[in-house]
Amino acid sequence: MKIDIGISQKDREAIADGLAHLLADTYTLYLKTHNFHWNVKGPMFQTLHTMFEGQYTELATAVDDIAERIRTLGFPAPGTYKAFAELSSIKEEEGVPAAEDMIRRLVEGHETCARTAREAFPACEKASDEPSADLLTQRMQEHEKTAWMLRSLLEK
Ligand SMILES: [Fe+2]
Repeated sequence: MKIDIGISQKDREAIADGLAHLLADTYTLYLKTHNFHWNVKGPMFQTLHTMFEGQYTELATAVDDIAERIRTLGFPAPGTYKAFAELSSIKEEEGVPAAEDMIRRLVEGHETCARTAREAFPACEKASDEPSADLLTQRMQEHEKTAWMLRSLLEK
């Protein structure tokens, strides 16, 4: 059945495309954070192991919200590693970085997600798609705050 929510097909498509890129970045960052939760070593183990668990849990909830918004707009949500690798701006990890490098990689990942969410924003504003704009606002806020918290761990 045809979608008639006051946003044209073309605008819904542009918004869904921005959200698909954010979904891919968020999923890639989710996996990286879970990977680091498993593999972190050193004197900061307990702090980072626990902190990363909180972060990947938040990201897992976020991917669901983003994917379901894409579906609400009438488009299929990407859901394969192949699609995510093509859409994501975040590089996959090779090997096991040292604990401080894990923190740096995660800061970069959260900053990338914030930028991708910000890039998707104008298409939402243009079409008065407040629900997508609200979702993007929440995601930017969360990624920027998490980047600050991780960055603070590296400061003396
Ligand atoms: Fe665990």
